[in-house]
Amino acid sequence: MAASIGDDDLAEPIVVSSLPLETRFLPLQLRQHGGFWFPETILPGIAAVRARFAPRPSDVFLASFPKSGTTWLKALAFATAHRADHPPRAPDHPLRLRNPHDCVEFLEVPYALDPTADAFAALPSPRVIATHMPYPLLPERVTAEGAGCKVVYVCRDPKDAFVSMWLFAKKTAAAAAAEAANDDEPRPVPTPFSMEEAFELFCDGRCPAGPQWPHVSSYWEGSQRRPEKVLFLRYEEMLRDPVGNVRKLAEFMGCAFSEEEEAAGVARDIVELCSIDALKNMEVNQSGAQEYVKNEAFFRKGVAGDWSNHMTPAMAARLDGIVEDALQGSGFAF
Ligand code: A3P
Repeated sequence: MAASIGDDDLAEPIVVSSLPLETRFLPLQLRQHGGFWFPETILPGIAAVRARFAPRPSDVFLASFPKSGTTWLKALAFATAHRADHPPRAPDHPLRLRNPHDCVEFLEVPYALDPTADAFAALPSPRVIATHMPYPLLPERVTAEGAGCKVVYVCRDPKDAFVSMWLFAKKTAAAAAAEAANDDEPRPVPTPFSMEEAFELFCDGRCPAGPQWPHVSSYWEGSQRRPEKVLFLRYEEMLRDPVGNVRKLAEFMGCAFSEEEEAAGVARDIVELCSIDALKNMEVNQSGAQEYVKNEAFFRKGVAGDWSNHMTPAMAARLDGIVEDALQGSGFAF
C-alpha cells in the first residue's frame, strides 16, 4: 500500500508516490512535500511524526539542515544535558563509546522504519531528539504556544553546507554502489555525480531537506517569534566561541552551569570532548558505521569557508545571489 501523509495542519492528506520525484541526487530518490525535498524513504516517517508523535513539555529538539553541524550539536547537547550522570572527562562517557548519532536519534527515522511504533516513549525526560524537518513541518503539538518544547537550530553558510553535502553524498553513493555490487540480486549501481550536477540541484533546492535557505529562515523566524522556545545558533559562531555557545545552550535548555561547574571548567571539558579532533579519533568513529555510511564520514574538516577550495567564485556568487533574492524581505541574512 502506498504511504500517505496525514497532514493535520498542512495541506490535504497525500500519497508519497504521487509527489514530484527527483532521481538525480544519488543514491537517494527525493520527493517534494510542503515546499521541501525529502528522501522518499523518510516521508512516511515525517507523516507518522505529524500524525502520532506525542511531545513532552520538557523535550528539546535539535534541528538542522543536513551538513550544517548536526553531529556537533548532538554531541554538545547530549554532553551538556547528561553531564550529571556522565561527566565529560569520564573515560566511559557515552560519546567515547558511541557515535553522536547513536546518542541522539533523528525523530523522523524510527517513524519511517515503523510508523506505528513510538521509538521515543522509553526515553527518560528531558528527551533530546534531533530532526532535519523544516520548522513549518514540525507538528503543531511541538511548536504551539504552551507546548513547552524547546528547539535548538544550527545554521551554516549555504556554500559550506553545499560542499559538505556533495562530498558526503559521494561517500554514501560509493557505499550504496559497493553494497549493490555485493548483492545476489543484481540492481542498478548509483554512479557518482559531479560537483556541477550537484550544484545545479542544490541551487534548485533539490537536495535532502532543501532548499536550504527557507529551511534556515523558517527556524530564524521561529526564534524571532518565540525566543524563549527557539534558539538559533550559527555554526561559524560556534567555531569562533565554542565555550560561549555551550553556555548559551545550557542556559536555554534550563541547565545553566553552576558557579562550581564554571570554576571546574565543565563547559570547556564538554567543548573538548565534542571537538572534531577528539570525536574523529575515537575508535567508534574510526571503525563504526551507520546503516548507510561509515561513522568517519561525519567528521571531515569542520571549518568555515572551505567552500572556496571547491567552488569557483562564479558559483559562489550565483548561489549567494539566489539565496539573497529568496530571502529579500524576510529580515534574515546569512
Ligand atoms: P565539513 O564537511 O565542512 O567538514 P552534519 O553533522 O550536519 O552532517 O555536518 C557535517 C559537518 O560538520 C562536516 O563539515 C563535519 O566535518 C562537521 N563536523 C562534524 N563534527 C564536528 C565537530 N565536532 N565540530 C565541528 N564541526 C564538525
